[in-house]
Amino acid sequence: MSSSQSGTMKLSDYTPSAFSISDLYLEFDLQDKETRVTAVSQIRKLDNSCTDLDLDGKQLTLKAVWVNGIETTVTHTEQGIRLTDVPDQFELKIETLIDPVNNHALEGLYKSGGAFCTQCEAQGFRRITYFLDRPDVMAKYRVKLIADKQANPYLLANGNLIDKGEAEQGRHWALWEDPFPKPCYLFALVAGDFDKLDDTFTTCSGKQVKLQLFVDKGNVSRGRHALDSLKKAMAWDEQKYGLEYDLDIYMVVAVDFFNMGAMENKGLNIFNSKYVLADAASATDQDYFNIESVIAHEYFHNWTGNRITCRDWFQLSLKEGLTVFRDQQFSADMASAAIVRINQVKIMREHQFAEDSGPMAHPIRPSEVMEMNNFYSVTVYDKGAEVIRMLHTLLGESGFRRGMDCYIERHDGQAVTCDDFVQAMEDANQKDLSLFRRWYSQSGTPVISVNCQWHQSQQQLRLELTQNTAPTADQSIKQPLHIPVGIEIVTLSGGEPKISEVLSLTEQKQTYVFENIPSPSTVAVLTGFSAPAKLNYQPAEAELMAVILHASDAVTRWDASQQLISEAIFKFSQRDNEKELPESLKRLFQGLLGQAHTEPALIAEMLELPSFETLSQQQEKIDLDALLKARKQLKALLAVNFAEHWRALFEKLSNSAYSYEQTQVERRRLSGVCLSYLACLDSDESLELLQQAYEKSDNMTDTLAVLKACQAENLPLFDSLMQDFEQKWHDDSLVMDKWFALHAGRQHPQSLSNLQLLMAHSRYSINNPNRVRSVMGTFAFYNTEGFHRRDGSGYKFLTDYLLELDSVNPQVAARLITPMIQYAKLDEHRQHQIRLQLLRLFEHKTLSRDLYEKVQKAL
Ligand code: PHE
Ligand code: ZN
Repeated sequence: MSSSQSGTMKLSDYTPSAFSISDLYLEFDLQDKETRVTAVSQIRKLDNSCTDLDLDGKQLTLKAVWVNGIETTVTHTEQGIRLTDVPDQFELKIETLIDPVNNHALEGLYKSGGAFCTQCEAQGFRRITYFLDRPDVMAKYRVKLIADKQANPYLLANGNLIDKGEAEQGRHWALWEDPFPKPCYLFALVAGDFDKLDDTFTTCSGKQVKLQLFVDKGNVSRGRHALDSLKKAMAWDEQKYGLEYDLDIYMVVAVDFFNMGAMENKGLNIFNSKYVLADAASATDQDYFNIESVIAHEYFHNWTGNRITCRDWFQLSLKEGLTVFRDQQFSADMASAAIVRINQVKIMREHQFAEDSGPMAHPIRPSEVMEMNNFYSVTVYDKGAEVIRMLHTLLGESGFRRGMDCYIERHDGQAVTCDDFVQAMEDANQKDLSLFRRWYSQSGTPVISVNCQWHQSQQQLRLELTQNTAPTADQSIKQPLHIPVGIEIVTLSGGEPKISEVLSLTEQKQTYVFENIPSPSTVAVLTGFSAPAKLNYQPAEAELMAVILHASDAVTRWDASQQLISEAIFKFSQRDNEKELPESLKRLFQGLLGQAHTEPALIAEMLELPSFETLSQQQEKIDLDALLKARKQLKALLAVNFAEHWRALFEKLSNSAYSYEQTQVERRRLSGVCLSYLACLDSDESLELLQQAYEKSDNMTDTLAVLKACQAENLPLFDSLMQDFEQKWHDDSLVMDKWFALHAGRQHPQSLSNLQLLMAHSRYSINNPNRVRSVMGTFAFYNTEGFHRRDGSGYKFLTDYLLELDSVNPQVAARLITPMIQYAKLDEHRQHQIRLQLLRLFEHKTLSRDLYEKVQKAL
């Protein structure tokens, strides 16, 4: 691929590699500040017209290069090094030095705590040695690690351990071999001292797989859930997709310093410890859920990502969209499918819609990239999964499986494109998906406008759907998409008929007529969030109520209740000092509270107000202050109106001793919502109740529910509970992240000086991404009042911090800037304040490519 002057890469510039590398031997002499890396590659020229070999490399000290054993000189290029006039086939040996201890970007080889570890996706391998750092170059790896034995009793790499031994001066070595050819982004090594949990899994064909989980010393008891989750995921993939594990050993290592969630390196996953460690006292139900889903996600990559990988990084959604979809299916099978789905819909509406309407808008298969790290996005991941889900909807469960079987059979061992995937789906089902392919190349969120009329005389329901996608920052012209639109027809009385189906909207406008509908009816549209689209549809209150009460699908009922509440909030925001709760909401909450015991988690979701972010996405422009105020007012009114109900329900929901088990999880979810309303009641009684709930709690879920409720309402009780909490947990960094986040998210006149205090805390470190995210991430993303202070001081605070963080860890800095570049909906005054700060960044001379790409697009 060529890089143009501006430094952007284009999908259309893709060319296959002129060289292949069949085998790679790597030797690491591991030392803190000077690790010696020897790389021996077997290289073959594929394109005879090519005389030179260009290798990628970054922050490497080159010691020497040999071609077929003869030392050679190379020229240094912007990307790395160039070897001129290379033979058609040769052995290339390269020796480099790297500095793991001072690697704070956490890409390549670095130290996390006391252990050496690597992170090579997307382009970290070039920080280890000079190489063809692109996913379509696949080689077989043999890796020798040499390190001090006492500090690093465990020496791990991909594949199988084939030999080990002692070396001089208290050092030892291990030799690993991975029989499966892989791209370099899947390479990994770990060397360090850990506690280890062992288990085994017997695959469907009877193979025994060794499972090993490595955690920080003293954390064995927190590893059980992750290991159990792994076994569930392995069994599920066999049963659901017929996919069996392929090596004799599967290792997972938990580290504290990690830029992302986890990494699917072949046979040696490396995880952010936050997605591994859990026990009742320190982890919430949400943490347990996340661990199960991330463990599964990385495991599922073994087929969708590793055995079949991406041809180039523009195809990232090939593995990520598909693997997210698979982990979502898994989660739905493990717990409550409706609740899992509701939470995915929230992510799409809160984060992906915002990205799609902001300066970083891109299709799930981007066509232009400046810094690849910026495209590990909600669009590529979550919208990518929605696109796979639509294929699943259009082809049906068995059609989708046929397509998967065809894809795997056709492409095992290859590096392929998103188009290859769709082609396999198409061929296995003889279905024309040519129009559907636009989802891969078109960015933006389609808006579906709905016109629905029931005609008594004809006993007919007519439904008119129109789709439109507004221009986005990256693309001005939009075309109609192939959209599966789920609908459910509901009679206003709740009687028959009930009709559910999926319409295939392929044109800009289509009309559908449903016959034999004798009684007044309405229709719910985009049921189950059947496509990543927005709706322009205002059913009458009575119609929404009918859907809430009578729709057969839980997600549809939830969605309708959220719409009813949203409308009330918008009305509130247009009037000053609204004191009356609308009749419709009175009836809604009365009804919901009455059936709370039947489906506690679903009712909890329905009782909760839509988030500020979700509300924003429903409007062109927002009056931020009015919207925040309206949301608060409505919450307070609901709290007061149903005070007795919240209290009574809360009392009924207490659980026996903690276990992560579905009925308990659902009850805790609902009891947390009750607490959030009770905290709005300014009464001694409710304070007492909160205090007691905190003291009584035997688990992190209930404890955090109390703290969150107090934080949201800014109760003085918050401070005393937080002090107690800190005393209990100050040595536990994962729990302290929760403490940091609670403080950073607090809406408070002094929120900026609070942040300063947090960053001066002894447990805080700018080098640790989890800490940075818990403080600055929470502030920028969720402390809406503090971050968007009218005087712009919140924006300035974030900018000052980004200037510092960018030189330490640009990848994390570029994620944190997100809320500041999505400013188009804000008022002119705030937009101006933001632009001032973006200009400061833009003019900074040593800004990273990561931040530069975002800032430049935002300005
Ligand atoms: N590939 C990882 C996943 O989705 C995410 C990741 C990307 C981790 C880049 C680290 C660096 O599972
Ligand atoms: Zn992934």
